[in-house]
This record gives sequence, C-alpha cells and structure tokens, in this order.
Amino acid sequence: MPELKREEILSINQKGWNEVASIFYGETALPKYGPLASTENELNLIQNLDDKRVLELGCGSGHTLAYLWEKMNASELWGLDFSEEQIRFAKEFLDKKSIPAKLFIASMDENPGIPEDCFDLVMSIYSLGWTPDLPHTLALVYSYLKPGGIFIFSWEHPVYQCLDYNVNIGKYVFERSYLEEGPTLKSSWKGVEIVINHRKLSTYINAVIQSGLVIENVIESEPNFSLALEQDFSPDRWYSIPQAQLMPTTFIVKAYKPK
Ligand SMILES: C[S@@+](CC[C@H](N)C(=O)[O-])C[C@H]1O[C@@H](n2cnc3c(N)ncnc32)[C@H](O)[C@@H]1O
Repeated sequence: MPELKREEILSINQKGWNEVASIFYGETALPKYGPLASTENELNLIQNLDDKRVLELGCGSGHTLAYLWEKMNASELWGLDFSEEQIRFAKEFLDKKSIPAKLFIASMDENPGIPEDCFDLVMSIYSLGWTPDLPHTLALVYSYLKPGGIFIFSWEHPVYQCLDYNVNIGKYVFERSYLEEGPTLKSSWKGVEIVINHRKLSTYINAVIQSGLVIENVIESEPNFSLALEQDFSPDRWYSIPQAQLMPTTFIVKAYKPK
C-alpha cells in the first residue's frame, strides 16, 4: 500500500475523531497521563502555574485545560484540536464552568495564530502521537515556549501497541514489529477508520532532542492499580492490568526550552 500523505491522514483522522469524540469525553485528561498509568498527583511534574500561560495540543474535550485552571491556578488557557466536535465539547464544558480559553481548530503540525515565545507550559496528553509530522510539531512547540518554558507530553508506549492477547493460547503475542514505523490505516473504535502513526520510543526522544528542547525526565509508567476497574483485570482488553504489568501503557516526557 502506498504511504499515506499528510492531507489523507488528516482527513481520515479528522472524520474519525469527529465520530468517536463522545467515547473519549474526559477520558484521557489530567490528572491522568494515560490509561492505568501514573497520575500527576503521584508524579508532580507541573509546578506552580500562578500567572502562567498554558497551551494544550490535542485538547480534546477540554478536561485537561479545566484541571490546569482549577487545580493548578493557570492564568491563561489556550487549546488546539483538529476535531470540530472535540472543540465543540471543550467550549461547552469550559463555558459551563466559566473558564476562559482561546481554542483553535487546527492540526498540531500547523500554527493557526498562536503567539511565539509566549507560553510557560505546553502540554499534550495522549495526542502528540497523532501528528502526521512530529519534527515540525516539536519545532512549533519550541517556538511557542518562552525560554525556560516546560513541555510535557504523554503517549501510548510504542511497545504496548505491538502486543495483543491471543485468547486461544492464553498468551500475549507480538502482532507487529516494533521496528516498523510509518502511518497505518486501521479499523478502530466502533469500526471507524483511523490512521495510526507507528513510531519507536527513540524516534520521539530523538525528535524532542533535535527540536532544541532539553529532556529533564522520561517516565515509563508502572501500572496504576488505583485507576483499575474490575474489567481492567481481563487480559484481552486493550488496556489491561495484566498487560500493563508486562510493559508500560504510557510514556511521559518532560522537557524545557533552554534560557
Ligand atoms: C485521546 S484525545 C486527548 C484528549 C485530551 N487530552 C483531553 O483532555 O480531553 C486525542 C485528541 O487528539 C486530537 N487530534 C488527533 N490528531 C490531531 C492533529 N493532527 N492535530 C490536532 N489534534 C489532533 C483528537 O481530535 C483528540 O481530541
């Protein structure tokens, strides 16, 4: 199959995310960094946000932005998401709480008018991996941050994506090679077509380094039993405690823009 182009990826994924937005309402948002993963309450990666300006890439339903406002005292919120449906949810959710936020409908690998050298914190919770152009997205993150500003993102661990539970043999098996990178068309939630961008962990880490940001911390999360429901102990679920005990569901990176 010929490699999918940026425009094709965006159009398939935008349509897909508009269809599945309601399934993810508030699901992957701070204080959670990811499914069955360590939380901000345990990791304390975010320091005092008094008088601080924050931007979230892939802000979804706005729950992370609300957390940064209500619990961390951020003074200005900006968010970007390419799904009209997600931005509609975010507007509704934040308006109900009278939380002001500047929201953009755009892909995170383009700048729809976000100011440069302006943000104390850029966040992306379970969204960065969706970008069709990782190096350019990280160059934008670098440009948005003030010198000394912090970038924190979390994403599904690339090894976790390779493993699947085979019910016939009762074991986890590698379904695909960890080493194979690139966009792949998949039928996902509710059978909706979506393009997953497979990348190795080192691809993320090296892209952050190449953007000029300095990595302060990389976390490969332990399973978080306190987030687990009864069904999460079933090994054949995509996110399950048995699989999370073998490998992290999530990795988290904290980096900063040098002064
Ligand atoms: C798992 S959700 C993250 C939700 C968010 N952390 C929250 O607090 O609700 C992933 C989000 O990434 C968005 N997304 C996917 N590809 C994108 C892209 N290229 N540019 C911007 N947003 C994108 C989706 O629309 C979706 O809202």
